[in-house]
Amino acid sequence: YGPVCMVRLGFKDILLLGSYEAAHEALVKSPDFANRPPAHSIEVIAGGKGIVMIPFGPFHQEQRRFGLNALREHGMGRRALEPTVHLCAQELCERIEEYGSKPFNLDNEVYQSVSSIISRLVFGHDVVQENLEFRKMIFQMIEPNKLNILAGILAFAPYLKHLPFFSEIHRKNKEFRLKMESSIRKEIEEHMETRDRKEPRDYIDSFLNEMEKSNQNQLIAMVYFTYIDVVVRDLFMAGTDTTSSTTCWIILFLCRYPEVQRKMQEEVDQVLGSNGVPKMALAEKMPYTRAVIQEIARMRPTLPLSVPHCTTQDTMMMGYKIPKDTIVLTNIWGIHHDEKLWKNPYDFNPERHLDSNGNFVKSSNIMQFNIGLRSCLGQQLAKMELFLLTTSLCRHFSFSVVGEVDMEGESMVTLRPCSMEVVATKRA
Ligand code: HEM
Repeated sequence: YGPVCMVRLGFKDILLLGSYEAAHEALVKSPDFANRPPAHSIEVIAGGKGIVMIPFGPFHQEQRRFGLNALREHGMGRRALEPTVHLCAQELCERIEEYGSKPFNLDNEVYQSVSSIISRLVFGHDVVQENLEFRKMIFQMIEPNKLNILAGILAFAPYLKHLPFFSEIHRKNKEFRLKMESSIRKEIEEHMETRDRKEPRDYIDSFLNEMEKSNQNQLIAMVYFTYIDVVVRDLFMAGTDTTSSTTCWIILFLCRYPEVQRKMQEEVDQVLGSNGVPKMALAEKMPYTRAVIQEIARMRPTLPLSVPHCTTQDTMMMGYKIPKDTIVLTNIWGIHHDEKLWKNPYDFNPERHLDSNGNFVKSSNIMQFNIGLRSCLGQQLAKMELFLLTTSLCRHFSFSVVGEVDMEGESMVTLRPCSMEVVATKRA
């Protein structure tokens, strides 16, 4: 239907952005499209706070600027974070090795590693591994359970919460959210007692420093304080499910296309040598591996319609009038499968991302992190995780899948591979 179209979903008109150009005009050039949909869905998903679902405005911009700075201060986008990711990749390989030739559930293992990375970045230690209760909560966030599915329905039809069945789901969802926030708050209190202002150890220490800086303005300080636990929870929510789903998709495609797996392993072996450790600096030398990762991001974007945006006022784009409060979705799936951009878009073909000399070609039409004022805050971390986890896994194991391979996946919060049992054979 072209780069911009309106579809009616229930009682709502939804604007779909169907090309990079349309997304660029709306999301990069104009602040009018940077809001999130109305408060009831935010209430269900995030209790009305955090970064991901809060309305656009000075407070969001401040949170985002600070969130980005704090993530960078602790290594995102720089070499400093590499040892943490590498350590978690190593632990993942060790856990997988324990299964021997037995099939195991890959998602749980990857999920644990990805949440451990966030935990080390945010808390300075691995709460996910150390605290079983916390790990259970993190896992509960993504499980395809009744609570998650019905909470999703409530976000779009909030009036249902007055029906007894849904009000119970609403209550349980809130209870879960508060429990998680309370264990994060315990960590924050410990940080407050043990921190050194001059040497912030992690994201929370930086957050507390920032809070003190704005102490002159009591209101801002108070707002920071009530928000810190929710911002931390948002980082777990936004950063774990997405990255672990993408990693699992990569392994699943490698199982389905063993010749691609072999080729990628050859490249990894050649660049890393026999005992080599994957490093971001070596990515330049691994065009085929990067092409595989980019092709899987194209084939299975984990947020196929991104996260909903909403217009802040009546506005215009590409000559169309768009009313205030219109929900806006970026059709990432559509752009990634557009026949005008990709030859045979439903075929898995990593070579399409290589030029005639075998060099990797980065494409602006790969929109897995979306673009603009609300684009993914953790994309540099995610890219590092995807590269280091995938290359470590391929270096150590050959993967195959047990039984039929379901390549469609299931759509929960993200588009995940259906729960799958894989066998990892240790490589020489
Ligand atoms: C493969 C992994 C990931 C994918 C595909 C992904 C994708 C996305 C997408 C599509 C959005 C919505 C953008 C929009 O509304 O325009 C988003 C937002 C966000 N992501 Fe990610 N993400 C990933 C990993 C991460 C990680 C590792 C973190 C942080 C630790 C993170 C933090 C966030 C935050 C905080 C937002 C909200 C930004 C805002 O509303 O201003 N994401 N992500």
